[in-house]
Amino acid sequence: MLVYLNGRFLAKAEALISPDDRGFLFADGVYEVIRGVRGHLFEEDAHLARMANGIRALSLPTPPGGLESLAVAARELLARNELTDCESTIYLQLTRGVAPRSHAYPPASTSPTVYAIASRFQPPRASQDAGAAAITHEDIRWARCDLKTINLLANSWAKQTAVEAGAFEAIFVRDGRVTDGASSNVFAVLGGALCTPPLSRYMLPGITREVVIALARAARLDVREQEITAAELRGADELFISGTTTDVTPIVRLDGQTICGGVPGPVSRLLQHSLRRRLDACGDGLALPPDESRGTSTLGASAP
Ligand code: PDD
Repeated sequence: MLVYLNGRFLAKAEALISPDDRGFLFADGVYEVIRGVRGHLFEEDAHLARMANGIRALSLPTPPGGLESLAVAARELLARNELTDCESTIYLQLTRGVAPRSHAYPPASTSPTVYAIASRFQPPRASQDAGAAAITHEDIRWARCDLKTINLLANSWAKQTAVEAGAFEAIFVRDGRVTDGASSNVFAVLGGALCTPPLSRYMLPGITREVVIALARAARLDVREQEITAAELRGADELFISGTTTDVTPIVRLDGQTICGGVPGPVSRLLQHSLRRRLDACGDGLALPPDESRGTSTLGASAP
């Protein structure tokens, strides 16, 4: 397997990173996980824009050649690893580089460490088909969850708690309100409307979340970016999570209680299928019109 490190493609075993790297010492960096579909990068521009935003907010150094060079490297990685006929994920990471350990940032001239790896990917079909279990978990993360930093210990902690409870995802709750999943965004059908928490510093602006919102609006669903309380979550007609590695995965059990009769509901199914079509269209190089799913809804959605 070939990976990308600081401008070079090399065998993973030869990709060596200094113990003085600030990613290792301080989790001082940002990352992206991009879905590859037959060699294409799904929502490439949105992922690069989110990474650029993190780099700006954290005053990280930009890679020589700019962020576009990372997209070029990502495509090259897919080709060199023979991953252009399947689905894949590309992990991109940028840290503040190598410097003796000191809390304050090193000189701005310090070169970033840039790493990328591509892997074959299969969506979690069983969870997507039958629905999955989730738990709620206190949101113990910091106050800039909108930045996709490599500091994921709280996310790992919550995910591990979910796994130990036999669940697929942990849903973070802060001050009684839902924020994110440990590695996904959260949607709930409440009183006929599709609700998802509004963007804030306490959640990641998921790329899949944006796509799902657009698909739902195109299907004339009543979409509301509004706070969801933990109580509303428990009483939801439907729940699902969205993310690059989860797509739309219905949640049919929450903290051991059944949601929506224990089977994926119609809104979750509709959006799951719409997202699948968007992913397939990316691989075909086809741009679907924004209203591609209009007319397919049988949900009694709020059509004007
Ligand atoms: N995580 N919220 C959190 C905390 C996440 O870590 C992720 C994705 C999402 C969904 O974002 P997107 O739709 O852009 O993938 C929401 C990635 C997949 C990961 O850390 O592996």
